[in-house]
Amino acid sequence: MLKLKFLRFLTSSSSTNQKSLPFDQKPDEPEINVKDFGDGFKWGVATAAYQIEGGWNSDGKGESIWDRFTSNPGHVKDRTNGQEATDFYNRYEDDLRLLKTLNLDNFRFSFSWSRLLPEGIGKVNEKGVDFYNKMIDTCLELGIDPWAMLYHWDLPQKLEDKGGWCNRDIVDWFSDYTELCTRRFGDRIQHWMVLNEPASFTTLGYLSGMHAPQKAGLSKFLASVHHACLCQAEGGRIVRNNVKDSHVGTSFSCAHTEPQKNTLWHRKASDRLDVMLNRLFIEPSLGMGYPYNELPFIRKIDRFILPDDPDKMKFDFDFIGLQNYFRVTSKPSLLPFVWANRVKPAPTSEVTEMGWEVSPEGIYDIIRQFAKYNIKEIIVSENGAAFKDHLVDGRVHDLQRISYFKRYLHHILRAKAEGINVTGYFAWTYVDNFEWDEGIRPRFGLVYNDFKTQQRIVKDSGLWFQELLKRE
Ligand code: BGC
Repeated sequence: MLKLKFLRFLTSSSSTNQKSLPFDQKPDEPEINVKDFGDGFKWGVATAAYQIEGGWNSDGKGESIWDRFTSNPGHVKDRTNGQEATDFYNRYEDDLRLLKTLNLDNFRFSFSWSRLLPEGIGKVNEKGVDFYNKMIDTCLELGIDPWAMLYHWDLPQKLEDKGGWCNRDIVDWFSDYTELCTRRFGDRIQHWMVLNEPASFTTLGYLSGMHAPQKAGLSKFLASVHHACLCQAEGGRIVRNNVKDSHVGTSFSCAHTEPQKNTLWHRKASDRLDVMLNRLFIEPSLGMGYPYNELPFIRKIDRFILPDDPDKMKFDFDFIGLQNYFRVTSKPSLLPFVWANRVKPAPTSEVTEMGWEVSPEGIYDIIRQFAKYNIKEIIVSENGAAFKDHLVDGRVHDLQRISYFKRYLHHILRAKAEGINVTGYFAWTYVDNFEWDEGIRPRFGLVYNDFKTQQRIVKDSGLWFQELLKRE
């Protein structure tokens, strides 16, 4: 199968020999004061079904594309899979109780489509509904606000067998699934998000083939993009229609792009990456159409567009979730279609275990870029870092992660101080989990997980949030 190296920068892990900042040599760290963010500011953690639930075939759950992908151990760098993950399916009560002790009162989770509808459409798995009912009720009993994500990458395999995101019927499949979720759970959930990072799952799943369902090629990619744009808006409409007083958004991966050199070619390369990373999904939802000008190959999407589609792709979300981890320095390259690529971080840069450059000012730049669209409300719906964690005498002193959070939060505050309406922050993530094709090696959690025993140990970063957010 054609395995393009396309958009590898989204998950690059190339730089493990680069400098990690020693704990005793931190640069000036800003002090974070929770009051500066305002009373109504939402603090929480984000998670995703496939990455935490486990129970991959429990109680009637159907197979998802990630169950299929990971059934071949060669697809995952450390040959693990999400069959058990962090066993949230059985441990959700303890996990939510522990989360509550960290004073993080907002819990973002995703529904597993194939747990609710094993075939993707048709017969409902009532045991799957029971699980989410119990989990949501536990949140509410504990005073945790649940934030539901409808789609975090785990399409039912049965739907993929029919073409998945490349088949226009997905708009109907997704609408029925959204109807189900909103009717069964909408009485207790106010905050909804439609798609998690469509730019990631379409490029990695349908263009480069690096993620499930390992499809590759321009036509598949463009079809998946267009159908995701239609579902994004339709999902928003269904939530608003079915859920009283809903607060509905969707989430975008985003990264501030800048040219490596100030030449016309570098600037154009940077603009092309900007379209792929930041503009492709938001602009159609705002009625601006697809950004063809900077990236002419996108025009080939026209053959999937029906006359009413530009209107159908529009939806005025209450908020936009921005998910940012790094910035991208770009240069012209021979990478097909985009003819641009990411420049590896300099050897002196601070990088995470994923090889991602720690670039706190990048979150300020990207928030400002999105704010220009006049979005009503911006929520940082994911931000965090994987670092090498060491469990010593029952503690994980992850000071580098604390430093990361402080620096990114400082730059979010800068954007807020300029009047941009940033209303929430969700750390990625609650507990070390299954990190897609990377496996369980990269640890992003505020809570350490022993994957053999499923024992949870709050890291110092979790304790830092606990202290930051403690009520007086
Ligand atoms: C995704 C998460 C992922 C995280 C870290 C985001 O792109 O939404 O599922 O684990 O980044 O890679």
